[in-house]
Amino acid sequence: MKPGLQFILLRLVLFLCGTVALPASAQDPAARSLAATCFTCHGTDGRSAGGVPPSLAGQDKNYLLQTMKDFRAGKRPATIMHQQAKGYTDQELEVIAGYFASVKTGPGATAPAAPASRY
Ligand code: HEC
Repeated sequence: MKPGLQFILLRLVLFLCGTVALPASAQDPAARSLAATCFTCHGTDGRSAGGVPPSLAGQDKNYLLQTMKDFRAGKRPATIMHQQAKGYTDQELEVIAGYFASVKTGPGATAPAAPASRY
């Protein structure tokens, strides 16, 4: 293998590792894609429409993490969150909780792409 190619491959591997190891934040695409499974019910970026189910955006990271662990362990009553929580490792839940905690809420926050008013 030519040294140039090895260098490129090394850079690629380092880049990919970096993507996974980055602290979870709203800017981290890997964290966002993991959290995206929750968007279906909890709204885009965890901003739920009308608060049902509750918005996850901007909630405390430790609260989100503990709640997910409690759902997974069956300690907290739920209709469907028991099932949702079971699919994730502790590490994944940490990334997801970090993602939602980092989403800004309230005035001045970047709103998710809203459809243009058609009426
Ligand atoms: C199929 C719809 C659905 C999906 C998908 C879903 N949730 Fe939920 N979530 C709910 C409902 C409904 C509740 C209310 C508790 C219950 O009945 O299970 C809830 C409650 C919660 C709560 C408690 C909120 C509070 O403050 O009381 C958290 C935290 C939560 N979900 C996190 C997540 C995360 C993280 C994901 C993605 C891994 C996720 N949910 C995916 C429907 C969903």
